[in-house]
Amino acid sequence: MQTIPTLLESRLRAALTDFPGAEPKVAAVNDARFGDYQTNAAMVLAKQARANPRQLAQQIIDKLDVADLCVPPEIAGAGFINFRLRPEALAARFVELARDERLGVPVPAKVKSIVIDFSGPNIAKPMHVGHIRSTILGDSLARIAEFLGHRVVRDNHIGDWGTQFGMLLVGWKTILDREALARDPIAEMERIYKDVNARQQADESVREAARAELVKLQAGDEENLAIWREMIRLSQAQFEAIYGRLGIRFDVTLGESFYNPWLREVVTDLAARGIARESEGAMCVFSDRSGPEKDDPFLISRDGQWVDIPALVQKADGAANYTTTDLATLAHRLREWTPDEIVYVTDGRQQHHFRQVFAIFRRWKSDADVKLAHVWFGSILGEDGKPFKTRSGDTVKLADLLDEAEERAFALVSEKNPTLDERDRREIARVVGLGAVKYADLLPNRQSDYVFSWEKMLSFQGNTAPYLQYSYVRIRSIFRKAAEQGAGSREQGAIVLEALAELALAKKLAQFGEVVPQILDDYRPNLLANYLYELAATFHSFFESCPVLKSEGATQATRLALCNVSARVLAKGLALLGIEAPERM
Ligand code: ARG
Repeated sequence: MQTIPTLLESRLRAALTDFPGAEPKVAAVNDARFGDYQTNAAMVLAKQARANPRQLAQQIIDKLDVADLCVPPEIAGAGFINFRLRPEALAARFVELARDERLGVPVPAKVKSIVIDFSGPNIAKPMHVGHIRSTILGDSLARIAEFLGHRVVRDNHIGDWGTQFGMLLVGWKTILDREALARDPIAEMERIYKDVNARQQADESVREAARAELVKLQAGDEENLAIWREMIRLSQAQFEAIYGRLGIRFDVTLGESFYNPWLREVVTDLAARGIARESEGAMCVFSDRSGPEKDDPFLISRDGQWVDIPALVQKADGAANYTTTDLATLAHRLREWTPDEIVYVTDGRQQHHFRQVFAIFRRWKSDADVKLAHVWFGSILGEDGKPFKTRSGDTVKLADLLDEAEERAFALVSEKNPTLDERDRREIARVVGLGAVKYADLLPNRQSDYVFSWEKMLSFQGNTAPYLQYSYVRIRSIFRKAAEQGAGSREQGAIVLEALAELALAKKLAQFGEVVPQILDDYRPNLLANYLYELAATFHSFFESCPVLKSEGATQATRLALCNVSARVLAKGLALLGIEAPERM
């Protein structure tokens, strides 16, 4: 089904006979004084044609045929054309929407194949809150892309290689506590790593031992490989437990080590093509001076001068690094899935890394037709405005955070519903607690830092998951009451939109199909979060001013249908954010 803006845009194109090829844009307006939808087409075209925008707007309106959809359009401001839908037209759209299993979300013009690289935790380390944003954001983008109809590969790029394994191996061989490992493997691996890392900073012999273990591992030493595999197995189990709790799955999980066999080839190929060259024993990629300096990831401005900041692809000791691995990974993904788009979800500190990787890739595979996007995000802060830490100053572990979310939600649910079974309260608390954490993470503009606040995210009022879940529950309870009164069957009647609150709600519901496709333009699930909040608020005003069960006939049928579609859109919207909607709360 087409959205209203798409429909109005095609009518506008038909009216723009003097401007062949024009692409007029129509958007919803949320201020009822300006109607329901608006276009700036006259202003855009008047600029090109050096015409008067208001006059041009009038000429467009004279030719425009929208009488079946809108009351006569009006010109506003500098030359906006405002559209106000006829109630019958909105009602007809609403009937279509109610029948549509995609809830008005159109099928994309081009079905794309999209790889989403997200989560990417590191072996032998606990997943911390830094990984939470990547995991939650990436999962939501994947759900949205899948729902739109794209072919999605969810790819978890695990950090399972690097210098930290030298220290981990020394620790494993000298100070490992087997009992502690059996009890809490991640904590024990973290302990031995921290211990060796602290000692190697002061003690040259420890540093040397770690280096030697690393070299042995890289050379394929059986003993070290076996320990390394054991560390991976133990870590993977922890990751799986968290993904299970969060309802997150991956299509591919490959460690950085998987790409080791190709690293040398990447470096030789880059050198052969003159993209990488030797510098102080290392292999580096420098600027090719092909674009403006300020956009060049291989240059940096120092004291008013542009100086080189090359990308290392091979260190002087011959070892490849994170950049080399990401290049080999890119080549692999291209071979494997010929994607239209590869999306990397990581924190903002990796911006420079990805700018360099993408730039090297463009020079290396200049004929590849793939969009590369680094979807980065800001940090989570504590209420003191500093990076989010535990009371004792440690980084917060994701598992502990989720436990606390469920515990706090349990206290709230028990307070509101003391008579409910403990099992039911636990289940509601799980859905509400995890939902609150996910929503708090998806709601802010992803590039800004946000302050982590339990009170705020678990509040039943305001722009929170519990508020949206509660709105859903409230609608479901209307249907339970309707069923008791035998009113549910009357839902099938004719749809007549009369009251202002009914019209406002039908209009808001029609916008779901407009918002969802926009999310992938700049990978911003917060557009959906904000839409759902507006929808819930619109629903509550409707519900306050329009009695449902006490109404009759077509009015009741219309109101029940509005309730029904509101519940479906809320549940679907939450599901696209990875959040469940409980039946009771
Ligand atoms: N392991 C990395 C980290 O913890 C994230 C990996 C992101 N993906 C990639 N292809 N580099 O920061």
